[in-house]
Amino acid sequence: MSPTNPRILPYGEAAIAEAAALIRAGECVAVPTETVYGLAADATDSAAVAGIYAAKGRPSFNPLIVHVADLAVAERIAVFDDAARDLAERFWPGPLTLVLPVRAGSGIASLVTAGLETIALRVPAHRAMQALLAVCGKPLAAPSANASGAISPTRAEHVAASLAGRIPLVIDDGATPAGLESTIVMDGHVLRPGPLTAADLGLSDAAPASGTITAPGQLASHYAPGKPLRLDAVERNGGEWLIGFGPIAGDDTLSATGDLVEAASRLFDALHRADASAAPAIAVAPVPHAGIGIAINDRLRRAAHPR
Ligand code: TXA
Ligand code: MG
Repeated sequence: MSPTNPRILPYGEAAIAEAAALIRAGECVAVPTETVYGLAADATDSAAVAGIYAAKGRPSFNPLIVHVADLAVAERIAVFDDAARDLAERFWPGPLTLVLPVRAGSGIASLVTAGLETIALRVPAHRAMQALLAVCGKPLAAPSANASGAISPTRAEHVAASLAGRIPLVIDDGATPAGLESTIVMDGHVLRPGPLTAADLGLSDAAPASGTITAPGQLASHYAPGKPLRLDAVERNGGEWLIGFGPIAGDDTLSATGDLVEAASRLFDALHRADASAAPAIAVAPVPHAGIGIAINDRLRRAAHPR
């Protein structure tokens, strides 16, 4: 693959047709979802799925989320109990991932689940991922479209910078609306906080974070910028790049008005800008630990964890 890759094509029929042709040929392509950009490949093609791991440089014990067009397709892949079906009916399409027992004969490559007996499924709401699913007619495995351990991409340019030379195509449909990865639920518990809060879902809150891998892939250091990050900063220390929130102004702000939804949509973009700045370190103002602020603080804690 040439170092000028990936090509970036604006969302539209031509871009979707080209992406679908690449996926049919066993390649992976980056496509926006309502949460972050995903790196999609045919989930039934083990060589194509291996290509996702290779492009990301991702440890193979970290299983991938499978995206499907609707609940009917999901039910052919995994076993839903009444509670899971109820969540799917209320929140799909949308930023909710359900971890469920995988059906024997589902056709999903075992590399997708990293050998687990469960599978993470979601029906995305974004027009680009929906169109790609419709044209491909295949379930698509798609982790966030960034090199493993790097910040998740909320814009096509983030993908191109992180995976330069490693993938052929990015479909560009602007900034992703939610800006944070989907909420992951398993057995009525939130495994990963996200745009839908436990309260939105009517579930008990996320288990307290620990430094150990509680679910596969829940690595403590995950969404990491390339320089030290200090949390709960009320002012700049030395040459830090300060990301503000509410009344704390900085070089940048998550939300000048203290709006948590706006802060979530801007978080990764702000971290990318901080990372690209000349400053040797990053500081972030305190973000209230309520509503989607729980997911924002989860991502910030992981970004701050020393590698
Ligand atoms: O919003 C999202 O969810 C984005 C977009 C592209 O859809 N995708 C995403 O995928 O964030 P990824 O691969 O970066 O995160 C997948 C998470 C990992 O933490 C992984 O460990 C967890 O899902 N996961 C996948 N399968 C699992 C399983 N069977 N049991 C527990 N956790 C699982
Ligand atoms: Mg990721």
